[in-house]
Amino acid sequence: MELEELYREARKAAQNSYSPYSKFRVGAALLCGDGTVVTGANVENRSFGLTICAERGAITAAVSSGRRKFLALAICTPDAEYPVCLCGACRQFLSEFADPTLPIAFGHGDSIGARTTMKELMPLDSLHELADR
Ligand code: THU
Repeated sequence: MELEELYREARKAAQNSYSPYSKFRVGAALLCGDGTVVTGANVENRSFGLTICAERGAITAAVSSGRRKFLALAICTPDAEYPVCLCGACRQFLSEFADPTLPIAFGHGDSIGARTTMKELMPLDSLHELADR
């Protein structure tokens, strides 16, 4: 699957965002090893700290359905004026499962605005030897 197609899935997923507090919708789409696309949207809470980012929602849904191999991630932030990349917490969460080469595409408009990789976002990642995945 092309990254642009995955990005369109992320854009669609942003429509499911529950973000009455920030009014900032985020959609994420993960292409999994079996070809499945698993999506997520940010889910906020009136107890603000409980908010779950779109990326962590997608990763949790994928792993919960038995999919731990990821081939690409796309993120769409339609309410932003520029492409918005993963927050630090989501980078760490993703790095549990992602290879350093994992392509990540993000944008705010109709098509991808920027691209990066897991390794670029986490250049000195550590402690993978503790996990048996
Ligand atoms: N958010 C995400 O879902 N992903 C990100 O990478 C950045 C932030 C959400 C959290 C909150 O609901 C809103 O965007 C504003 O921070």
